[in-house]
Amino acid sequence: MDRIFEPQYIWLESVDSTNSYCMKLAQEGEQEGLAVAAFFQEKGRGQRGNTWESERGENLTFSLLLRPSFLRVEEQFMISKAIALSICDWLKNNNVDARVKWPNDIYVGDKKIAGVLIENSFSSTFLDISIIGIGMNLNQIVFSSNVPNPISMTLLTGFQYRPEVVLSELVVSIQMRYLQLKCGLKEKISDDYLKSLYRFQNLCNYSSADGNFKAKIIGIKPTGELILEMEDGQKKSFGFKEIIFEI
Ligand code: BTN
Repeated sequence: MDRIFEPQYIWLESVDSTNSYCMKLAQEGEQEGLAVAAFFQEKGRGQRGNTWESERGENLTFSLLLRPSFLRVEEQFMISKAIALSICDWLKNNNVDARVKWPNDIYVGDKKIAGVLIENSFSSTFLDISIIGIGMNLNQIVFSSNVPNPISMTLLTGFQYRPEVVLSELVVSIQMRYLQLKCGLKEKISDDYLKSLYRFQNLCNYSSADGNFKAKIIGIKPTGELILEMEDGQKKSFGFKEIIFEI
């Protein structure tokens, strides 16, 4: 039977970025399962070189250290899938129906409730360190105008959430999906990911270096590229930085 990690928590009042802090500890040999959370990040980092905004003490911002040495480098997108699903699982347990906006933004309707920044390092052909950075909007109700389409748990449900409690519950959800992955249930994870995918099989607007177009998401390559079917039936695949979801 595969063993699952034992969580260890470090809560910081303030830090530059929990991902950077956690990566440093990982490189010093810290065990899988370490979760570094902060009430405030001075330089919270997002995807595509963006910053991650989060009001002090209002939301959940943390990074979890995993060591998925059972995954080959070319399988690294499986981690993204498992993590995105575990966030959707937690939201479902809290009566919120969420979708994964490829590759791993978490959306409720057309609004973003959580973002994920995964930073991996490799030892030859296998993954070595995986830092899972998650920012989830809990109690914040006003966001700066620079943040595109945010939503929070409080805006959705009217309730208040304690970041410490949400963290320990979310780590349980992550443990469950990570165990599925470790046990080899990759097809189940990939199926669940497709079922949870925002805009799956819907004709929607996108843009790429070639301009604006309408297409349907029809699948995901094992390496993580998005497969779209154009209006003329042609299939095209896109890497993360090659396509923008338009309204
Ligand atoms: C994104 O949607 O752009 C990803 C956002 C990821 C933000 C989290 S908050 C905790 C961790 N530390 C960081 O600096 N970033 C991630």
